[in-house]
Amino acid sequence: MHANQTLPQGVQPGEISFVLGHPDRQALPIEALHEAAMLALEEPLRPLEYGPEGGDPELLAFLRLWHRQREGLDLARNQAMLIAGATQGVDLVARLLLAPGETVLVESPTYKDSLLIFRDQHCKLHGVKMTPEGIRPSDFETAIQDLTAQGERPRLFYTIPNFQNPTGWSTSLARRKTILKIARRHGILILEDDVYREIAFGAEPPASYFALAGGEGVIRLGSFSKTLAPGFRLGWLLAAPAIIERIQACGTAQMGGGANPFSAAVVAAYCRTAHWEDHIQRLRSIYRTRCETALAALARHMPAGVEWTRPQGGFFLWITLPESMETANLQDRFAVRGVRVAPGAQFCTPPEAGVRCFRLAFSFASLDQLKEGIRLIGEALAEG
Ligand SMILES: Cc1ncc(COP(=O)(O)O)c(C=O)c1O
Repeated sequence: MHANQTLPQGVQPGEISFVLGHPDRQALPIEALHEAAMLALEEPLRPLEYGPEGGDPELLAFLRLWHRQREGLDLARNQAMLIAGATQGVDLVARLLLAPGETVLVESPTYKDSLLIFRDQHCKLHGVKMTPEGIRPSDFETAIQDLTAQGERPRLFYTIPNFQNPTGWSTSLARRKTILKIARRHGILILEDDVYREIAFGAEPPASYFALAGGEGVIRLGSFSKTLAPGFRLGWLLAAPAIIERIQACGTAQMGGGANPFSAAVVAAYCRTAHWEDHIQRLRSIYRTRCETALAALARHMPAGVEWTRPQGGFFLWITLPESMETANLQDRFAVRGVRVAPGAQFCTPPEAGVRCFRLAFSFASLDQLKEGIRLIGEALAEG
């Protein structure tokens, strides 16, 4: 198959890009998806016509089974729907459940495209500092109290609990439980963006906020982008039935006939025939090796004073430079060496909190590119 002919969005010819969290091309199950597409077209009306508002029933049934088998999570039919990627889920929640001007609590740093969506919907953002075990419950509570005292009671907490983008850190089970209690006490909805859950290098992630909450007060997003292929633009949203109903009643859901019926039919055919468990184990091994390679190269090439995270899963590393350096001033030095990273400020709330940081995606570049690119970053930093 033609896996290497084109460059993905944002990657220039000849450069080593650690900017975007694209899946490794070797991780795309191209042959199996080819077969799945042929199989889906054997019943051509289903993928080619509008579908039900909630999405393809066979794929939803597979997702309910998957959550039961892997997490012991029983989902009712009216607690799950398909969406056009987790990103659309963030957009739907911000657009339909928040009023313009309402305040959203976010981890700082966090996934920058979600920040863009909240800004698009005219939400105010308030960052709570991330740590290796997630945000501190005491920081969360203080932020809520301070904002409430200023007449800005927050409505939503957006979190990436597993192998967070951009730090790679996960929120511990103990913190999830305490944060959930605090959120409940203050009537704050939790939006749990869980797209990296399956990309665990070691132990399985703890129970989701959604499971801990018994499905009330939490909306959870999942995606096929990181495990199958981002081009499907397909994910799922789990929530209380009243929220699912509200979302399915919106104009785009009513007209759209469910998220991406063609993609959903192909993915459903893949799920019917393929071996998910083997595929997931293969992905874990691919990304674990990449992460280990990146960590070894950082240990070898970073000058004193540079710090980095040690993720247990996912696609990203977060790097913090010494006090004397700012990422913005280094971009030219990286560029002449043909290396690109994602500057930290865009992930942070406020942005100033990230000026000494950058994100390094280890998911897409080859092992040789990881070694060479990190050597070149070390060389640029050593210039002082
Ligand atoms: C935290 C997070 N959520 C969502 C997405 C995008 O997911 P999707 O392709 O399902 O929209 C990404 C991709 O980088 C991500 O890191």
